[in-house]
Amino acid sequence: MRYRPPAPGEVVLSRHDGHLEARAPEHPPGRGVWANWPKPASRRGGSALVRALGDSNSVIDATGGLGVDAWRMALAGRSVTVLERVPVVAALLADALERAAAIDAAAAARMRLVEGDSRRFLASLGEHDRPDAIYLDPMFPPKRRESALAPKEMQFLASIAGDDADAGELLEMSRRAARKRVVVKRPQHAPPLGPDREFALESKLLRFDVHRPIGAGDRS
Ligand SMILES: C[S@@+](CC[C@H](N)C(=O)[O-])C[C@H]1O[C@@H](n2cnc3c(N)ncnc32)[C@H](O)[C@@H]1O
Repeated sequence: MRYRPPAPGEVVLSRHDGHLEARAPEHPPGRGVWANWPKPASRRGGSALVRALGDSNSVIDATGGLGVDAWRMALAGRSVTVLERVPVVAALLADALERAAAIDAAAAARMRLVEGDSRRFLASLGEHDRPDAIYLDPMFPPKRRESALAPKEMQFLASIAGDDADAGELLEMSRRAARKRVVVKRPQHAPPLGPDREFALESKLLRFDVHRPIGAGDRS
């Protein structure tokens, strides 16, 4: 049966083979989408992301999704607060985080999950809570986008989470909240999400744009 992502409101959440999965009602257990975090040995695709973080230790992943990028950052030694606003997706993330200690206990201990809208979370941060870096991976039309996720997972997120039309606003807020940098994952052909890109790290199909923060002196 060809994969059809469930529409919002019709998602079935159930346990299969030790993990939580989300599927359309007509699909049998085992055909759904779940957060399948890689083992430390398979860090394919994660190195450009980690290089883009520079010497940042604390990171907010403001577009959590299924958490693969957040997990890669935690495996690389960063403390990661991961945010996700769609409850079904946040439930898959929470399940992955529970299972993560069995993959790498130290990396799992460096991760914290917050369910909710990142814009509200960033607006509530006190001066001492500001992270070194904020990472953004907003939805982009999946056909031309390379992702850490397989196409089925991207179809699921696109159907459930929509197109992240507020990503530009999230970038602006992130640049005000981050101490050192904001890293944005983009498809190779797409323009930067916003102004003041300092540099980009590129691979064949995707790019990590590094934007400078809006410092106290620049803030209006
Ligand atoms: C392309 S996915 C991210 C994939 C992720 N990098 C991964 O490795 O699985 C984008 C996700 O960001 C979430 N998102 C977008 N804007 C958000 C916001 N303002 N607050 C919280 N989550 C947001 C969407 O719900 C969606 O699940």
